Amino acid sequence: MNFDPGIYLGRAQNVDAYSGSQRSTLVLGPSRSGKTSSLIVPNLLMKGYSSVITSTKDDVLRAMSERPRNGSLLLFDPSGTVPELPRVTRIGYSPVRKSLSWDGAILVSRTLTTISRPTLKENHWSERAAALLAPLLHVAALRGSSLAEFCSLVDARDSTGVADTLLERYGAHHASHSLLTGILATEERELSGIWSSASGLLAGMRTDAARQAADQSSLDLDKFFAGAHQLHIVAPSRFQAVTTPLIVGLLDYLVHGTYDRYHQGARLLLALDELANVAPLPQLASIVSEGGGQGVLTLACLQDLSQARARWGEQAQGFLSLFASTVVLPGIADRATLEMIRNLGGTYFQPQRSLHRPRRGRGKTSTTSWHERSRLTIAQIAAGRPGYALGLTPAKEARWIKLTPWFNDPRFSSDRTLQPMAQVLSTERPWSEFSHSSEL
Ligand SMILES: Nc1ncnc2c1ncn2[C@@H]1O[C@H](COP(=O)(O)OP(=O)(O)O)[C@@H](O)[C@H]1O
Ligand SMILES: [Mg+2]
Repeated sequence: MNFDPGIYLGRAQNVDAYSGSQRSTLVLGPSRSGKTSSLIVPNLLMKGYSSVITSTKDDVLRAMSERPRNGSLLLFDPSGTVPELPRVTRIGYSPVRKSLSWDGAILVSRTLTTISRPTLKENHWSERAAALLAPLLHVAALRGSSLAEFCSLVDARDSTGVADTLLERYGAHHASHSLLTGILATEERELSGIWSSASGLLAGMRTDAARQAADQSSLDLDKFFAGAHQLHIVAPSRFQAVTTPLIVGLLDYLVHGTYDRYHQGARLLLALDELANVAPLPQLASIVSEGGGQGVLTLACLQDLSQARARWGEQAQGFLSLFASTVVLPGIADRATLEMIRNLGGTYFQPQRSLHRPRRGRGKTSTTSWHERSRLTIAQIAAGRPGYALGLTPAKEARWIKLTPWFNDPRFSSDRTLQPMAQVLSTERPWSEFSHSSEL
């Protein structure tokens, strides 16, 4: 595996600027500030390995389908809103199919619980509902049931034959059997509450589009990691409530699939455009902090931190330190975000000389005092420089980075294929190796 300099950011001092090896990047910028065209698309074009891209629109997918490429273009469309496009293959994701192993069923049911309560601690009902769903999911997978059949069974509170199947397959002492029989023996009123919580966790899977998306053939992870393929997950924000469980489940599956194959060379660019509007991933913080060392490089785009607070609650306070690098595009209006970026940029001490006239005698004496000033001002951050982004390095030093929108930069023109571009760019110094000089 070639050296990977991390996320491509643009140009600084006439060389390509990168986040640094294994360093994830957070991009903050309002609508039309260049998040997609200057960061998401260039990174998709440059990486010589597979990527997953989330998006609320199919514009990136369209742009990619119109140019020659090395790898396949795959689409997961859980809202059923993307029209057919040339050279695009649809894939499916079904929580039932992922439950063919007992451990898979446990993971799927856990994911469903965390999605329903992303910012709150798990409660008794969600924990019990997940414990009920795991054996039901597992047996549905063993029976070859579709997602629709599984949901109907849970809605009808029908567990006929499930315990017998588990008993026959694993014996009475296996966790799946004891978990299920334990829950089914719960006092009637409580059991009723557990069934309705379980039904509630499946709320996102009742649309026809979700069921159709689940029925498409699923992704072969070994093949996916063998080339530079792109998987586009497209879901307009108005469908978020129903598409989130499937999207979160699919991303979880891909991320863990990369971790499991890391030593065989699997790498994944997780390009999360419009992150808060597509799927508020409950596990984002752990992917960013643990993923770098296990092959998952995250590029996450948000409008500002108020958007993150609305989705991730208190966790969002830590986003600027969670991501190794932050890229700030011009035009952010949220005061709290601007203040946090200013504080992160640090301070310096400015000498200030003052002259004093002594009470008696002639002449003046001078004293020097040191005043602490922010390196960046709120106005500087909010206005930015047209065509530039303000980058905060892992050492939280600020740099101006010239943006390179793919449609303006000849290096990204359509007659180049992926491979030569990756070679051209990987010869340049990564950002982490830059000297301390700064344009600021
Ligand atoms: N293919 C293109 N050709 C020319 N201009 C474009 C193209 N795609 C986007 N733009 C322009 O680039 C600017 C940034 O757009 P975009 O990267 O989509 O912003 P964001 O993702 O932050 O909303 C906008 O002014 C947009 O109109
Ligand atoms: Mg965009």
